[in-house]
Amino acid sequence: MPSLFFLSFLLFQGLLLPCLSSSSSSHNIGHGYCLVSIEENPNGGGLVGYLQLKQATSTYGPDIPLLRIFVKHETRNRLRVHITDAENERWEVPYNLLPREEPPPLEKSNKKSSGFPFVASEYSGEELIFSYISDPFGFAVKRKSNGDTLFNSSAEAEDLYGAMVFKDQFLEISTRLPKSNSLYGLGENTQPGGIRIQPNDPYTLYTTDISAINVNTDLYGSHPVYMDLRNLNGGVAAHAVLLLNSNGMDIFYRGSSLTYKIIGGVFDFYFLSGPMPLDVIDQYTSLVGRPAPMPYWSLGFHQCRWGYHNLSVVEGVVEGYKNAQIPLDVMWTDDDHMDARKDFTLSPINFPRPQLLDFLNKIHSRGMKYVVLIDPGINVNSTYGVYLRATARDVFIKYEGEPYLAQVWPGPVYFPDFLSPNGVSWWADEIARFHKLVPVDGLWIDMNEVSNFCTGKCEIPTEHPCPKPNNPTPWVCCLDCKNITKTKWDDPPYKINASGIQAPLGFKTIATSAEHYNGVLEYNAHSLYGFSQSIATNKALLKLEGKRPFVLSRSSFVGSGAYAAHWTGDNKGTWADLRYSISTILNFGLFGMPMVGADICGFYPAPTEELCNRWIELGAFYPFSRDHANFASPRQELYQWKSVAKSARNALGLRYKLLPYLYTLNYEAHTCGAPVARPLFFSFPNFTASYGLSTQFLLGSSVMVSPVLKKGATSVKALFPPGTWYNLFDTTRAVISKGDRYVSLDAPLNEVNVHLYQNTILPMQQGGMLTKEARTTPFTLVVAFSFGATRSDAKGKVYVDDDERPSMKLVDGEATHVEFYAEINRRIAKVWSEVNMGKYSLEKGLSIERIIVLGVAGVGKGLELEVDGERVSDLSSVYFAGASSSSSVNLDKLEGRTK
Ligand code: NOJ
Repeated sequence: MPSLFFLSFLLFQGLLLPCLSSSSSSHNIGHGYCLVSIEENPNGGGLVGYLQLKQATSTYGPDIPLLRIFVKHETRNRLRVHITDAENERWEVPYNLLPREEPPPLEKSNKKSSGFPFVASEYSGEELIFSYISDPFGFAVKRKSNGDTLFNSSAEAEDLYGAMVFKDQFLEISTRLPKSNSLYGLGENTQPGGIRIQPNDPYTLYTTDISAINVNTDLYGSHPVYMDLRNLNGGVAAHAVLLLNSNGMDIFYRGSSLTYKIIGGVFDFYFLSGPMPLDVIDQYTSLVGRPAPMPYWSLGFHQCRWGYHNLSVVEGVVEGYKNAQIPLDVMWTDDDHMDARKDFTLSPINFPRPQLLDFLNKIHSRGMKYVVLIDPGINVNSTYGVYLRATARDVFIKYEGEPYLAQVWPGPVYFPDFLSPNGVSWWADEIARFHKLVPVDGLWIDMNEVSNFCTGKCEIPTEHPCPKPNNPTPWVCCLDCKNITKTKWDDPPYKINASGIQAPLGFKTIATSAEHYNGVLEYNAHSLYGFSQSIATNKALLKLEGKRPFVLSRSSFVGSGAYAAHWTGDNKGTWADLRYSISTILNFGLFGMPMVGADICGFYPAPTEELCNRWIELGAFYPFSRDHANFASPRQELYQWKSVAKSARNALGLRYKLLPYLYTLNYEAHTCGAPVARPLFFSFPNFTASYGLSTQFLLGSSVMVSPVLKKGATSVKALFPPGTWYNLFDTTRAVISKGDRYVSLDAPLNEVNVHLYQNTILPMQQGGMLTKEARTTPFTLVVAFSFGATRSDAKGKVYVDDDERPSMKLVDGEATHVEFYAEINRRIAKVWSEVNMGKYSLEKGLSIERIIVLGVAGVGKGLELEVDGERVSDLSSVYFAGASSSSSVNLDKLEGRTK
């Protein structure tokens, strides 16, 4: 329980009324607030206080005179600071969308600003301490263990920023930061400077459909959360700060400070104490929702293209992969299967249903899957059942009482409102109907920022059809549009840097004065569109057959990872975009959305053969691995070039052998948030050289991918944290690193460097062309010791289940979870396991066929290996395979010893 100190009760009581005159902090437009009272919240814990405006300013509108602050240590490692208008309810991210504790209701009484007791200026939890300065009000959050100040909003004369500002349409708050910080997160954003946030890089968060090739600007998702990694006097600690707010915002990081400028909502801060990066993500996802469990098949390779014009082209692609012996699990269609690009329809000519069903029967019987795209825009068309049913249920977002008219691929559209219960249930019904028509295995929800080709108040033209038949540029607005009558929502006083050009908020999206269910303004809910659609889609799929859903969403918000996977949107087939993909993918791991990838070989225009080689070598290790291209780009399936096919067989070959490891990571993501793809500092937090490293990454804790990212390169310079790293393509090639320099690795065109760290037991299988086949093959355990050590240990784990069940709960007979241990102690190496749950793998006949032990010295010279407590005699080389070749052991039976 947090403890409160009342020592300074008397000292503070009555001292601070009224506010002192305007302080010296005049660098910003406000003069801030002063704290007039703060006391224990009688119901439900925490502190409740009131902040009184010191001096009104007129820039960006009138100030809110009285604020209510609520502070609570919600868990031992999570502190919440919530500041809102004390007298009027304000917009907040809905509590039903992102469940969390509700702050106390606003009080009607007049006690707010007079003669309240003050609790001491420090409010301490188990890991964090909240403290404040009363006038002008500022608060700080400290780490209890070392006194480090994590956040400090108190304005001081010499600061670049001033006191807190709270107006109806403009909120501002800053924090001072120490010199030695490394910040990560804040997105969605393509960051040329790499994963570490660079001083003065602009961060505007407002969900926007501009392609990922635009660097340093607001993209498809909004994630106002950052992780700060600090290395203080040799001690490393990370924490995160989430500002849960869905309104548009600019965030300015200047190295020594960070400032939020937000155009609405409230300050709802969550401070997560870490202290290790994995702890931070665990705490973050326990708040915003654990990443959704992904079906096993979704870890396989996916092929898509906008422009698979008919079914035979799609069939040809499946054949192409088969003939080239490149793994392929999932075939996708973009909007090509649709009738005139209308959601939930089939083109009777290009994708006739009977033939499509035959095709699906065929691929389903092999274990392949099929995913299709849907857009949110519902074509306004009186012959279209989907539209008619939606209209009957009144599901559309409205403007001046009428559905808001926009234009997307099918022409004129209305947008369903996923904040409306009707919208959600209608959507589920449409998905169910469509599923009866076409038994798809997953859904891709695109354009959900939401994207509109027009701006303003539009009408369907009477003069010409829209879209024009055979229009080669369907993204050009063909509605008749005029400017919206500007309300304060369409033209707020503070302009965020939308689209990097301070574009109007309604630019190519919904007018911000449009209304959702219950009068919720688009102004407030804009960035929640993709998130609310992800929830509705995930739940609709789950309801269908009770199977684990697969949803891919372009737009995302805090909490989206609990419902959907993500890809980085429209990138380009360039070396720069190949490189940027790593940072964006690593960031989404921090955002709690670990199933993420980028369009392999680039969405447009045309990748070179060399680039595509390098892209599949990297993309084979994206958590979500999909090749996707634009219709204007030449075909780029991996079999189109011989050399790319070879690289693909090599890299995807390894991916498919690593599937049990990847699936176990998926389980860890779901149970504790751990990103699948991670920056190196997640495993090596003391290795400061890795803090900005954005050209290599880890899968899980111990598999490192070091791809070629430069044209013409045949070697790659890679950074290796200290220890032994075994090349997974050839374990005789190990790097023994002191961590002090980059190592040059051979990387001929068809080869990618993937290394396994010492002290790891890696579960692998034999791979194959399909996850369905690969997952039934015998296991190999790769036990990696520190090279040559006479004492070393290793551990690893594996999780397997039937991926159709929605949850990943450890239910006996439905899942197996085994932890593996190994140690070498002079002349004896031992491998054993601890079975948390085993029946499932036993029933499925999953067995460990081989144990490969790496790095042991003295094999054949007296070294002995014990597996399951029994000695194995056929040891033959420095690293050895087939150690237990005499008999295979069941996955749940490797039990020589328990912990
Ligand atoms: C935009 C998406 O980002 C892209 O991947 C897709 O191919 C097009 N929409 C067409 O649906």
